[in-house]
Amino acid sequence: MIIAPATSNTISKMATGRCDNLLIATYLSANCPIFFAPAMDLDMYKHPSTSNNISKLIEFGHIELPASAGELASGLVGMGRMCEPEDIFELVSNHFEVSNALTGKTILVNAGPTHEKIDPVRFIGNHSTGKMGKAIANTLADRGANVELVLGPVDTHGLSPKINVTKITSAQEMYEACQTIFKNCDAGILAAAVADFTPTNYSNKKIKKGQNDNLQLSMTRTPDVLASLGKSKKEHQVLAGFALETHDEINHAQKKLDKKNLDFIVLNSMNDVGAGFAKDTNKITIIEKNGKKHTFDTKSKKEVSVDIVNLLQNYL
Ligand code: CTP
Repeated sequence: MIIAPATSNTISKMATGRCDNLLIATYLSANCPIFFAPAMDLDMYKHPSTSNNISKLIEFGHIELPASAGELASGLVGMGRMCEPEDIFELVSNHFEVSNALTGKTILVNAGPTHEKIDPVRFIGNHSTGKMGKAIANTLADRGANVELVLGPVDTHGLSPKINVTKITSAQEMYEACQTIFKNCDAGILAAAVADFTPTNYSNKKIKKGQNDNLQLSMTRTPDVLASLGKSKKEHQVLAGFALETHDEINHAQKKLDKKNLDFIVLNSMNDVGAGFAKDTNKITIIEKNGKKHTFDTKSKKEVSVDIVNLLQNYL
C-alpha cells in the first residue's frame, strides 16, 4: 500500500490509529508492506510532533518515501515537497528487489549470552544483549528469508514477527537447538556469546556461604556450537561466525575462521570505541576464507547487519 501524499493529518492518524475515514480504515486493515510519502508545508514538516509521528510509522515497520525541498502547495519553498512519482516508483521497486533477494532461503542465526547455572539462584553469564544477532535476524527477514533465531536469555523486543524464535538458556541447549535447526538451513550466522565453560556440578540447593572465605568452582568445557556446525556443514551451506578479540585481532580471527571451517568471520575488537556488548553501534572487519578483508567504519548495528547480510547474499 502506498500512501502518497501522506499529509500531516494522515500521518498523525496512522501513528495513533484514529480511524475516522476510509483511508485509515484500509491502512489499519492492511497486511502488506506500507509506504508513505510525507507531503506538507515546511513548518508543519519541521514540527517535532510530525517527526515523532514519522518515527513511529518507521518503528511500525513502514517505509518512508522521503520528502524533498522545493516548491510547496502554499507557494512557499522548503522541505516537505512529496517525493517525485518517478522516485516513488524506483524506491518501491528497489525495495521489492531487495526484499525478495533471500526468499526461499532458511537461515539460522544465534544471539545473546548463555547462562550456566551454579545453583537455583546463581549463574555464570556475560554482557551480551543479543542486539547484533537480532539486527542480523531482522535484516534477513526483511529480505524474505525464513529466519530461525536461537536466542539466549534476553528479551525478544524489536524482533520482526516473521522470525521463528527458539529460546534457550545454557550453552548445551544452544548446541542442541542449533544442531537440529542447521540441518535444514542454507546458511548460519552465529553471533551468540556462548559460554566456553559451565559448572561441572549443579547444586540443586542454594550454596550457603557458611564459614567459608573462598568458593572453588570446577568448570567443564562446553561444546563449541560454531565449530560443530563447521564440521558437519554440507557443500551448499554457508557458515559465518564472529570473533571478539582484545589483542592480535586479525591473527586470532583468521585462526578461528580456519579452525571452525567458516566461509567468513566477523571480527569485533574490544579496543574499538563504538564496538562491543550492549552498544547500539559496532565496528567490524570481515575476513573471508579466500583471505579478502573488508573493513567498515563504526555504524549502527542495523547498518552493520546490512553489510554482513550483503556479503552472505553473495555466497548464497
Ligand atoms: N562459539 C560457539 N560456541 C562456543 C564458543 C564460541 O559457537 N562454545 C562461537 C561464537 O558464537 C562466535 C565464535 O564461536 O561466532 C567465536 O567466539 P569467541 O568468543 O570470539 O571465541 P572462542 O571460539 O570462544 O575462543 P576464545 O574464547 O579462545 O577467543
